[in-house]
Amino acid sequence: MNWIVDTPEKKVVVMTGSGISAESGIQTFRGANGLWENHRIEDVASPIAFRRDPVMVWNFYLQRRKQALGCQPNAGHLAVSALEKWVTEGGGEFLLATQNVDGLHTRAGSRNVIEMHGSLLISRCTACGEVFQDESVDWELPPHHDCPQKGLLRPHIVWFGESLFPGDMENIESAIRDCDIFIVIGTSGTVYPAAGLAHYANRLGKRTACVNKDAPANVDLFDTFIQGEAGTELPRRLFPEKRAKGNAP
Ligand code: OAD
Repeated sequence: MNWIVDTPEKKVVVMTGSGISAESGIQTFRGANGLWENHRIEDVASPIAFRRDPVMVWNFYLQRRKQALGCQPNAGHLAVSALEKWVTEGGGEFLLATQNVDGLHTRAGSRNVIEMHGSLLISRCTACGEVFQDESVDWELPPHHDCPQKGLLRPHIVWFGESLFPGDMENIESAIRDCDIFIVIGTSGTVYPAAGLAHYANRLGKRTACVNKDAPANVDLFDTFIQGEAGTELPRRLFPEKRAKGNAP
């Protein structure tokens, strides 16, 4: 058996997409039954849509927030969290960059996580800029912040046409420059700048691996491609120690 990470004293960067949460019951974005199949992205996930109709956009995100809170991390999330524990306790370094906004990696016990596209469980005031954990699902819409300006709240999500949060890309690229292996899981490789990270790692001559149900758009960039479901493949291919509980309490 060839493990993706064979010894723990490695510097590992993992990037995940919605495919890793599919087995928890969260819809992916593209393909049959994908979330974007029933919505025009520009109607629900853009600053223009929010300016035009904040109630509609909030309804969309509250529904997704409810769904995420009702789902549990699966064996794929737990394997990633267990890998972090194994590597960091074994003298290596670990960073998880996720495009997912569902919070399931953190609930599975992952610690060093960059949520590149934000989080369904965080809101942000459009007036004072405060960012806070927010699991409320019964806001009177559209919600307003309890600040002097009573600013309109928005989901702390990176919408189409917006940049990633300051520093995130730099931190991920810096970890990739320094890493021994870059592992990509459950993403179609079509949304930039996230998809560009595989090109970046490849150009730097890093070892690259991908675990995905279907071949992603950028499959040629990976030294190893394991086709299958994350919840099945990760526990048996990611690293040689079966500690399914990972960092979970
Ligand atoms: P996509 O829907 O584009 O791709 C999901 C990928 O996961 C596909 O390649 C599937 O083959 C794969 N997949 C499905 N089930 C899987 C499983 N059980 N195990 C492993 N792989 C599986 O979703 P993302 O690539 O995450 O951005 O999409 C990237 C971004 O586009 C999202 O973060 C979101 C979206 O628009 C924003 O909202 C900003």
